[in-house]
Amino acid sequence: MIAAILPAGTVAVDTFTDAPGTFLFPEEESIVRGAVDKRRREFATGRWCARQAMVRLGRAPTPVLPGPRGEPRWPAGLIGSITHCDGYRAAVLANSDVITTIGIDAEPNAPLFDDVLPAVSLPQERDRIELLRRTHPDVCWDRLLFSAKETVYKAWFPLTARWLDFEDADVTFDPLAGTFDARILAVGAQLHGRRLTGFKGRWLARQGLVVTAIAVASPHRPPGVPHLRPPWQKVAPTECDLPAATGPAAQTLAE
Ligand SMILES: CC(C)(COP(=O)(O)OP(=O)(O)OC[C@H]1O[C@@H](n2cnc3c(N)ncnc32)[C@H](O)[C@@H]1OP(=O)(O)O)[C@@H](O)C(=O)NCCC(=O)NCCS
Repeated sequence: MIAAILPAGTVAVDTFTDAPGTFLFPEEESIVRGAVDKRRREFATGRWCARQAMVRLGRAPTPVLPGPRGEPRWPAGLIGSITHCDGYRAAVLANSDVITTIGIDAEPNAPLFDDVLPAVSLPQERDRIELLRRTHPDVCWDRLLFSAKETVYKAWFPLTARWLDFEDADVTFDPLAGTFDARILAVGAQLHGRRLTGFKGRWLARQGLVVTAIAVASPHRPPGVPHLRPPWQKVAPTECDLPAATGPAAQTLAE
């Protein structure tokens, strides 16, 4: 499912079930030894998705251990992102010479608890989603906003190794195009040698879920890899408004 909002050059693997007996490497096993069953299953199936993606990228499956802030540490030459929520797990990977950073997130398409929205949004974001609620009531915009912000953080962290608070990004949705703009309000971060001012992402509401994704194209695209957006369009340094993948490079595995 999430492949629909990711560009060519990424490999997306997702599943709506946990395969029994999913394999963990011993060093991964030690991370979740003692964890509750729910945590073990989401961790293991997220790794299963990541390893399927590695194989599709022509790589041997390797352990994916968490870094000090929980970020998945990918083998050299790969980047990616993992998400899991009730009934859904996904991993998206790419070669780092094609894509600079990826963030993905999935959430149930259900309203946030009342006290959560004020804690994770800016006043102008709340105003905008109030309007969207009226015109597009099928989408839980508060939950989608939360998901987009988590995706922003997952794309941001590997670039900066810095915390980003919910008030440090201002997210605007386009309900018809299925895109969002995240303006980064925190200063000091760089991307491709320029100030990092924001990300463009995509979103989807389907099968009881909202999913969001950001993928930033690498400026060091190797010869033979197609342009990720039409060359006549001006590319702002922080943009990643890429065409959705159509070929075998991005696939969804629905178990
Ligand atoms: C890290 C965080 C984004 C994870 O999101 P979540 O909805 O709780 O959980 P998800 O299932 O979608 O994602 C979990 C996966 O995120 C990945 N992850 C965790 N920390 C990460 C980080 N610092 N950077 C990138 N990815 C990270 C991991 O792969 C994790 O799965 P795993 O532990 O099984 O490997 C969230 O817990 C968090 O800390 N949010 C606060 C920061 C934030 O969102 N700021 C908003 C900025 S606008």
